[in-house]
Amino acid sequence: YLQEIELSQETRDLISKLPTEKALISGNLHQYKGFWFPTRYIQGVLASQKHFQAQDTDILLATTPKSGTTWLKAILFALVNRVHYHPDPQNQDHPLLTNNSHALVPSFESNLYFKKQIPDLTSYAPPRLFSAHLPLESLPQSVKESACKVVYLCRNPKDIIVSLWHYTNRLRHRSMGTNSLEEVFQYFCRGVSPFGPFWDHVSGYWKGSLERPETVFFIKYEEMKEQPGLHLRRLAEFLGCPFSPEEEAQGVVDNILRLCSFENLSNLDVNKTGKLSKTGVEHSAFFRRGEAGDWRNCLTAEMVEQLDRITEEKLQGSGLKF
Ligand code: A3P
Repeated sequence: YLQEIELSQETRDLISKLPTEKALISGNLHQYKGFWFPTRYIQGVLASQKHFQAQDTDILLATTPKSGTTWLKAILFALVNRVHYHPDPQNQDHPLLTNNSHALVPSFESNLYFKKQIPDLTSYAPPRLFSAHLPLESLPQSVKESACKVVYLCRNPKDIIVSLWHYTNRLRHRSMGTNSLEEVFQYFCRGVSPFGPFWDHVSGYWKGSLERPETVFFIKYEEMKEQPGLHLRRLAEFLGCPFSPEEEAQGVVDNILRLCSFENLSNLDVNKTGKLSKTGVEHSAFFRRGEAGDWRNCLTAEMVEQLDRITEEKLQGSGLKF
């Protein structure tokens, strides 16, 4: 279950004035500047906006929750640290074998700025890797003003709903019972989902990637699943660390993908038994099926129709499709 978080008076004053809805696990969601933030993370959102100082060499992974954040964190870590930590199967000392990727790539709202103390990040060696579920509009100003690279990962909303349904039921206190898929579905469709509305979240980054392709990289979970090698190479180019011909010959791309595969990561001891230090969430909760298209086994035809209609309406004219 989730650990409780102590909120500052300032945060309590702010949320008392915001529109509020019940969250799926515990606590509430608060609508702040158009987006719904969970009670337990809103303090981290505000503190990161106030205190985070971006450096030009920083890399920020931004995601919608349940889009494969855990996976892309692992890939980014393995990619940018590949000279220091060889991703080949012989290297039994790779940090990803003994650490969950959330510990290696800390998140603004659920790790770095989660508790009241403001972290000192100046000693982190570049390139610093961070993550956030913040919408583009809410990113710290220094991120937008620096040359910091933003990698944005999203996913088909149908699979997000299914993943969110399983995840939130797993984390809910047993005494509260479970949420039905219908409840989670309707809540998501109303835009009331963590860091949602989903469509506004993706649209913001989609536009950002069109306006500033050199600083915002936009990728879908499904694309990464389908052509992982292609997109990993694109990502390396975007981050300014393309694979050399020697690395290509040594199979470094495949080694990174194998190291970060669902099969490999989900079977490691650290991911079967460990917990996140700040929030107490079990690592295993981040590994379920790891596939695209599970929605076909769960959503009704009516749900699919309703969701497709909303997606089409909200993303109309943007060029973005799911
Ligand atoms: P499913 O619930 O559909 O299986 P997040 O990390 O953003 O919370 O997203 C969790 C989703 O990513 C879960 O989806 C999880 O199984 C999937 N996932 C975790 N690790 C993965 C990996 N290495 N490869 C592919 N998918 C992965």
